[in-house]
Formats: sequence, structure tokens, C-alpha cells
Amino acid sequence: MQITACIFDLDGVIVDTARYHFLAWKRLTDQLGILFTEEDNERLKGVSRMASLEIILEIGNRRLDENRKQEYATLKNNWYIEYIKKMTPDEILPGCLPFIKELRNANFRIAIGSASKNTPMILERVGIQGLFDAVADGNIISKAKPDPEVFLKAAEMIGVKPGNCVVFEDAVAGVQAALNAGMLCIGIGSPKILTEAHFVVSGLSEMNLAKLRIIENDARL
Ligand code: BG6
Ligand code: MG
Repeated sequence: MQITACIFDLDGVIVDTARYHFLAWKRLTDQLGILFTEEDNERLKGVSRMASLEIILEIGNRRLDENRKQEYATLKNNWYIEYIKKMTPDEILPGCLPFIKELRNANFRIAIGSASKNTPMILERVGIQGLFDAVADGNIISKAKPDPEVFLKAAEMIGVKPGNCVVFEDAVAGVQAALNAGMLCIGIGSPKILTEAHFVVSGLSEMNLAKLRIIENDARL
């Protein structure tokens, strides 16, 4: 079975929005008097907005009622939107556009699989909303990674079987979601962190089609 489709996570794979998430959460935690570090922020990668707030409250040893949680999640998101509204095409991570172009020329199907409800705005701001055959994001799924829902949905939208898809992911929960979907997974980041991925590269600038075929063959052995 050959890989014929690539599904890309958005945050941390195509654009580096982790720092904007951090700045927005930091503003909230400062207001709540919770100490929140960049190291803590790592735990929020790939995790939904509400689940991220739960982790922050656990770090601060706080309990809030549901209404308050909704209020704070909205407040954080409003701040986050202030940052992403100012994003420009320069913020597309290195190697992403040439790799997608090569895949397109080879007739691959290409999709986004992201937990973020802000996916449409980010794609629009960096000018790549027309680059994908399908966008599966936080607006159309109900189960967060490591559940495979977002990737299975993306595969369904592009009409490709899960076994013919490869996922590019920077988050541990995202790698697990890809494996749970029965897909090949290439981690973006550190092999020490993304231990479950079939292969890990530091960024899409390390990827090309020939390398994808090698990784695919090795994973099958
Ligand atoms: C993921 C990010 O892609 O989307 C998480 O890695 C984020 O950090 C999640 O919490 C949800 O994003 P949003 O934009 O809907 O709050
Ligand atoms: Mg990510």
C-alpha cells in the first residue's frame, strides 16, 4: 500500500503559533496569579483549548466552575486572536511550501488535521487557504487528539484510506492520534520526545518525496 496523501498538523508544523498560545495563556495566568513557564507550555501542544485550561488550573492548584472556565477560555482566545490577526506569510515554517509543491506535482492529496478552531483564520492570514484539498479542524470534530477523529475525518474528506496516509505532527498527543488512526506518522521535533513516531525530522525543510518513500518502506519492514 503506497502513501498517496499527506495530512499536516497546523500549529508547530506549518506555522509556529506555540509562542502566541504561550503569550495569551501567560496573560491569563498572570491575571490569575498562577506561575506558568515555557516548559509548562510544552504540555499544551496539540491539546484542545479547554483541556489546556484544565492543565493550567492543575498547575496552579485551582478549581473553577464551568461558567468561569468558559469565560477564561474565551478571554485567552480573544488575546490569542489579537496575535494571529497580525501574522504574515513570512511565518510559514521553512521547507513547508517547497515540500507541498513537490507533493502536488506528484498528485498527492493534501489535508490539514488540526485541533485548532482558529485554523481558517491562520490559513487565511498566512495566505495558504487554497493550498489544501481538505481542512479538518477543531470546528468539525468533537474528540481531541490522541483520539484519531481529526485525522480519520481528514482522510475521509480527501477520499483516501487511512493506511495510505502519512501524518506530520509535532505533539505527542498528535503522534498517538495518527497511530490510532492506523496512519504512518512523521514527527516534527525531537526524537527524544516524539518516541512513538515512525520517523522524526526537525522540520519540513528536511523532507522531500524521495525521503518519504524511504521512510515508508522502512516502516513497512
Ligand atoms: C493545537 C495547539 O493545534 O490547537 C494547542 O497545539 C491548542 O496548543 C489547540 O490549544 C486548540 O487551539 P485553538 O486555536 O482552538 O484554541
Ligand atoms: Mg501541533
